[in-house]
Amino acid sequence: MDDKFDELQELILSDARKVFSETVIDHAMNPRNLGEMDDADGFGKVTGPCGDTMKIWLKIKNNTISDIHFMTDGCGTSIASGSMITELAAGKNITEAEKIRQQDVLKALGGLPLDSIHCALLAANTLQAAIRDYSTAKTYSKRKASRKEG
Ligand code: FES
Repeated sequence: MDDKFDELQELILSDARKVFSETVIDHAMNPRNLGEMDDADGFGKVTGPCGDTMKIWLKIKNNTISDIHFMTDGCGTSIASGSMITELAAGKNITEAEKIRQQDVLKALGGLPLDSIHCALLAANTLQAAIRDYSTAKTYSKRKASRKEG
């Protein structure tokens, strides 16, 4: 039974390797930073035109992304894209992380087939939404603080 399963898995993988890079397959099968986060400082949720949704949570310390998690109900390439963008953004300061775009995700993944490149866009847009959420919350709490002080 195990042998048959291994054979089948190898068959599926060899088909996948014709279309996807090893990096895509690795991130799709072993996603990094997958899961929700309690007490996030920033949260983004975006639904792409394909109907799939991605969520990203950020923990920020000293203006730097100290922790980042993602979830998606999307396809394997959206899992790979979400996983990769968390790796690209982790440890970056907010200004650097704001510059991460679809092209950066695609490059880091070793490319995606044309009909899957929107998955990388979904990841980039979700990261931007989480950063915006953090920045807005920060501005709002500063205003609140200055109102209190004033
Ligand atoms: Fe929708 Fe991949 S097909 S995100």
